[in-house]
Amino acid sequence: MTGPWWREAVTYEVYVRSFADSDGDGLGDLPGLRSRLPYLAGLGVDAVWVTPFYPSPDHDAGYDVTEHRAVDPRLGTLADVDGLIGDAHRLGLRVLVDLVLNHVSSEHQWFVSARAAGPGSAERARFHVRPGLGPGRAEPPTNWPSIFGGSAWAPFGDGDWYLHLFDTEQPDLRHEHPDVAADALATIRFWLDRGVDGVRFDAAGSLSKDPGYPDLPEGWRPGDPAPYSDRNEVHEIYRRWARELASYPGDRLGVAETWGGPEVLAPYLRPDELGQAFAMDPLYWPLRAQLWRDGVDALLAATGRHGRLPAWVHGSHDVRRAADRWGPHGARAVLLMMLALPGAVYLYAGDELGLPEVTLADEAIRDPVFRRSGGAERGRDGARVPLPWTGESVPYGFGPTGSTPWLPQPTDWGEVSVARQRDDPGSALALTRAALALRGEWWRDRPAELTWRDAPAECLAFRRGHRGPTCLVNLGDVPVDWRPYGRRLLLASMPKVEEKLPARSAAWLA
Ligand code: NOJ
Ligand code: MG
Repeated sequence: MTGPWWREAVTYEVYVRSFADSDGDGLGDLPGLRSRLPYLAGLGVDAVWVTPFYPSPDHDAGYDVTEHRAVDPRLGTLADVDGLIGDAHRLGLRVLVDLVLNHVSSEHQWFVSARAAGPGSAERARFHVRPGLGPGRAEPPTNWPSIFGGSAWAPFGDGDWYLHLFDTEQPDLRHEHPDVAADALATIRFWLDRGVDGVRFDAAGSLSKDPGYPDLPEGWRPGDPAPYSDRNEVHEIYRRWARELASYPGDRLGVAETWGGPEVLAPYLRPDELGQAFAMDPLYWPLRAQLWRDGVDALLAATGRHGRLPAWVHGSHDVRRAADRWGPHGARAVLLMMLALPGAVYLYAGDELGLPEVTLADEAIRDPVFRRSGGAERGRDGARVPLPWTGESVPYGFGPTGSTPWLPQPTDWGEVSVARQRDDPGSALALTRAALALRGEWWRDRPAELTWRDAPAECLAFRRGHRGPTCLVNLGDVPVDWRPYGRRLLLASMPKVEEKLPARSAAWLA
């Protein structure tokens, strides 16, 4: 292995509430995850990212935190975290925690006292608080939209308004405030001291806001530059936190949850900042060969400027299931492509089973996006349905028999369970396991430069460096002969491939 352990690591995102429920309360928990670590070690991933397990009233499924240095009693105890880290390390797995430092829960002590203390108080200075506009200060201070829909400002009821880039129950912190800065640092240290190998910084680009609070220009659209996204000041915060990470032994990783193109994420990767920044753009790329080729080149170039590699994101709890975005076959092809590319890869729990996006009934949806958009957007819960492990009926081994998962599982999920796929060589699970086993030998730690080989229309063929295996991806509708690219078929994303690689599939050739 060259460089730090995470440079080309494959990290599996455990959405803890939906992974495994040990006590039957319907909510996945830390003992549940702990009991399934051997499954993840057997799958062949290098690291596990555990989504927030801190005390939370769950207005945004744990991303609304009341105490950053404690464990939600529904999900476990600090002793469970220690046990989890210990077990993971014994199995050769690294552990990343998810720190939500941009905002707190509206039930966090700081916000409760800010609400009570009134306009002009020291308590309100920890948050972004502005007087409302117009008569009675009844209008929001700016036209900023919440990422979850509606205005990003909510009234205290006394003329002051507070900023919440996400839900109203997630007030944004002012990182310029010394209490906020000190508390964030204490949180980072707390989890590093417990032995975690890395930290995901939630909403990484949002920590700094333009203190002039300017309105967004006419015609602004989501994704355009904004006075609360990826500002220069945010990088000063990461420089400070990176020094903290570097002061611990063992190459601790900081990974930024970035949403943006190559030029947005590259600055987070400067030598004195973080090791990784999520490459989320590919999540939305349609399966067109030239588009992927250009996009991959741009990400490699931008990250390479700082001696880093991309962190390819194949799926997450914030987007539709991979099998839905790219189609079931496309998701398998993209998996083989990402695992062959230079860089790290983030896989989302359940995508190794090829789970479909679930259409939930209105009453079942918990994601605040659904309510805040007035039902116009269904939100993200369709990708968060608890995993099917075994058996033919709910809860499919997610929890004890008779328990009811917090989001309803489809009635036919026995067919896609881990137990059902385990011994089926054509399954998504078997493919993921085989790919992870072969990746170490064929792709990992090869040259970071990509060589594109000539390929038929709507196909991609590349090597790392000028020699070694080729990854051939057929995004088109017609089968293509793989034999010009290698003598031996190491792995294909579809079962039973002979001389031709079927439409929407990928192969590794040597
Ligand atoms: C990003 C998280 O991944 C998402 O699930 C959450 O809603 C927002 N940040 C707010 O914390
Ligand atoms: Mg539970």
